[in-house]
Amino acid sequence: MRKLVILISGRGSNMEAMLEAGLPARIAAVISNRADAAGLAIAASYGIPTRVVEHRQFANREAFDAKLAEVVDEYAPDYVLLAGFMRILGEAFVTRYSGRLVNIHPSLLPAFPGVHTHAQALAEGVKVHGCTVHLVTPRLDHGPIIIQAAVPVQADDTEDSLAARVLQQEHRIYPQAVRWLCEDRVEVDARGCVRVREASPGADSLVAPAVEI
Ligand code: GRF
Repeated sequence: MRKLVILISGRGSNMEAMLEAGLPARIAAVISNRADAAGLAIAASYGIPTRVVEHRQFANREAFDAKLAEVVDEYAPDYVLLAGFMRILGEAFVTRYSGRLVNIHPSLLPAFPGVHTHAQALAEGVKVHGCTVHLVTPRLDHGPIIIQAAVPVQADDTEDSLAARVLQQEHRIYPQAVRWLCEDRVEVDARGCVRVREASPGADSLVAPAVEI
């Protein structure tokens, strides 16, 4: 059975969706860079070992990343899942887990990398927003895309209302992507594009229910 380590920084709702998904995997540990991350208590309530590596206790990114890798490696995971992990990881860390490091990002990448994605989407007036699960490369919020979900933007949307609808879709697509990975069905071709073996057509591009107009 595949072993997973989940990295969080806060609420942990994506982590919880993973714990609830009945994946063919063992979640070996949940690690946070913040001791006050609410998700730690949720993980503990599921009996998952939790660890904290406080980024503030390290002089620089390299030192933090090195300690984080040391703790991750104690669990020898097949995949390391970033689930609302709000630290940028350096090239050495990303390379160490190349092909095994997965992220969820709350936009339809390559649109709106970085933070405040919902505000960015509203400011641009896009009509379709969404979320993306991808393999992590050293370039921020970039890498082979495994699955995306599209979420229609409504005229009266606020950052919060849009974030809430996108989050519902995050909770669908992240466990699905990890399930495919655990089933060894994710292939990256020579162009760096993902193909999911034996997935029904369109299964990697969900569309949230359309709104009435
Ligand atoms: C999610 O929207 C995730 O995509 C983003 O930060 C949020 C974390 O939420 N990177 P949670 O901690 O999983 O509830």
